[in-house]
Amino acid sequence: MIKLNNIVKHFGEQVVLSDVTFEVKEREIFGLLGPSGAGKTTIINILTHQLEADSGIHEIGATSFETGLMLDEDGLYVRLNCIENLNIFADIYGIPRKKTLETLKSVGLENAAKKSVGKLSRGMRQRLALARAILHEPKVLFLDEPSSGLDPETARGIHKLIFNLRDKGATVFLTTHNMEEAVKLCNCVALLHKGVIIEQGAPGEICERHNAVKTVPDLESVFIKLTGAELV
Ligand SMILES: Nc1ncnc2c1ncn2[C@@H]1O[C@H](COP(=O)(O)OP(=O)(O)OP(=O)(O)O)[C@@H](O)[C@H]1O
Ligand SMILES: [Mg+2]
Repeated sequence: MIKLNNIVKHFGEQVVLSDVTFEVKEREIFGLLGPSGAGKTTIINILTHQLEADSGIHEIGATSFETGLMLDEDGLYVRLNCIENLNIFADIYGIPRKKTLETLKSVGLENAAKKSVGKLSRGMRQRLALARAILHEPKVLFLDEPSSGLDPETARGIHKLIFNLRDKGATVFLTTHNMEEAVKLCNCVALLHKGVIIEQGAPGEICERHNAVKTVPDLESVFIKLTGAELV
């Protein structure tokens, strides 16, 4: 469903992505793991045509209308309330407005429908951004750190929603710093370190390879083992 082949990207002199190659299969929950600055958001920006790669090939088996995107900068209108924010998108995508309340319910925000975005908590705002990303039932969903900074309960709610979307046929591409989250959610992960994919495969297998005791190793220890260097 998503393919990247030898993607290279520079920002000025800095090589941000070097020869990134991986594939995401249909109906998979794929996790791109890496520390801050590894290049995760840059990959999402390239795949969603917000940035151009210097070289390499990438493709998605869905049109831009069939793609949902939730980024760190959510681009929500702070003076409008939740339902108004979703209605704007519903109108753009030609979706009946009754779907907006339904979607708001699915992220547990029905009681905040009339609350302005500027007055939402971080977790509520994140869930609204997710609601907007899934409103048009996209075939491919990009989620940039969907649960970063959320309390465990809210994060669990978002995880449940991600599973539901996959069960309904969506392919999910998410980024995270958190190995435990990746193990719980993803069928397949790729580890990105300074723009280089250093490991990929099923998260359980990666954990086994890098941890003799079968608990989830933290991401940092896997990276240190693979690169021999401390994370910056
Ligand atoms: N528009 C830009 N201009 C110049 N440098 C950029 C730009 N966008 C990103 N970078 C640089 O590219 C590198 C990768 O950034 P990116 O945002 O992709 O990392 P990330 O893995 O998403 O990090 P985080 O986990 O903090 O979100 C960083 O060194 C960053 O400073
Ligand atoms: Mg990022």
